[in-house]
Parts: sequence; C-alpha cells; structure tokens
Amino acid sequence: MNNLLHKYGNTALIAGASEGLGAAFAAYLGAAGINLVLVARREKTLEKFAADLRSSFNIDVDCICCDLADVNATDYLQEVIGKKEINLLVYNAALSHIGAFEKQSLESYMKTTQVNMITPMKLFHVFGEAMLTKEKEL
Ligand SMILES: NC(=O)c1ccc[n+]([C@@H]2O[C@H](COP(=O)([O-])OP(=O)(O)OC[C@H]3O[C@@H](n4cnc5c(N)ncnc54)[C@H](OP(=O)(O)O)[C@@H]3O)[C@@H](O)[C@H]2O)c1
Repeated sequence: MNNLLHKYGNTALIAGASEGLGAAFAAYLGAAGINLVLVARREKTLEKFAADLRSSFNIDVDCICCDLADVNATDYLQEVIGKKEINLLVYNAALSHIGAFEKQSLESYMKTTQVNMITPMKLFHVFGEAMLTKEKEL
C-alpha cells in the first residue's frame, strides 16, 4: 500500500468523508500513510472519525465542516486549506432524488446540481491544476 503514498504523495482531500464510501476511502488511504483533509457537514461525526484515523494510522487528519451545496464551497475550502499541497482528491458527496421529475422543486434540483456537478468540477479544476503542474515539474 505504500505504493499509494509513492504514487500520489502525502495528502488527500476527501469530500463527503464522514461515512459511507468517503469514509472507506479515508480509512484505506490513511492505512497507506497518506495524511487526510476530510470534508463533510456534521462536525462531531467528522471529528470522531478523524480521531480514530489519527490513532489507528499515526497520520495528520484535518477536518473542514462545509456544505458542498453552498455556491461558495470551493472558495471556502481553498481558503481554509491554504498552501497545503493536495495530491489526491476523492469526491464522494452526492444527492439523488428518486421519483417523478415534477415532484421536486427547482431549488432542490439546483442544490443537487451544485453538489453533484458544480462543486466537484470546481474542486478538480482548482486542485487538479496544481497536481498536473507538479507532475510536469517532476
Ligand atoms: N454506497 C453505495 O453502494 C453506492 C452505490 C452507488 C452509488 N452511490 C452513491 O454514491 C454517493 C455516496 O454514497 P455513500 O453510500 O457513501 O453515501 P453516504 O453514506 O450517505 O455518505 C455521504 C457522505 O457525503 C457527505 N455529504 C453529503 N452531502 C453533503 C454536502 N452537501 N456537503 C458536505 N458533505 C456532504 C456526508 O456527510 P455529512 O452528512 O456529514 O455532510 C457523508 O459523509 C451517493 O450519492 C450514493 O447514491 C453509492
């Protein structure tokens, strides 16, 4: 698993990390010695999970509470993360409505579009660009 550390680098950002697939990715990458920046809305759940990861794997884990449906989420994450280099990005948060299209409000579809499409596109644009620049320099 140390290949992951060698291949990707020190730090992974996981959006939607407090449970489910995102938490599984966090545990997997943490076990490989990769430091983590975890993003989700529920602070206590996220902090407890981060504490478990720190003690299990002796890694650095930062928590950022953020609603990825917020139109300013990417700017906020970029500001909080600052100069910390992100080497790997896992985006796991998503909304899915089941049922007739007309039963959901436009506001609900706008929120879904923000979480499922716009925020991940912006995050990959911001952090992916830095990853590609670094790769070219190596
Ligand atoms: N699990 C599967 O087998 C499976 C299979 C196919 C597709 N999927 C899809 O993959 C996605 C993730 O599945 P999952 O099972 O891992 O879901 P999950 O267990 O509900 O986990 C979702 C994670 O995303 C976070 N999150 C959700 N909305 C957020 C928001 N607006 N801002 C910030 N964080 C947010 C949640 O934390 P907070 O609530 O604390 O914010 C949680 O950590 C879902 O869309 C699901 O439909 C899952």
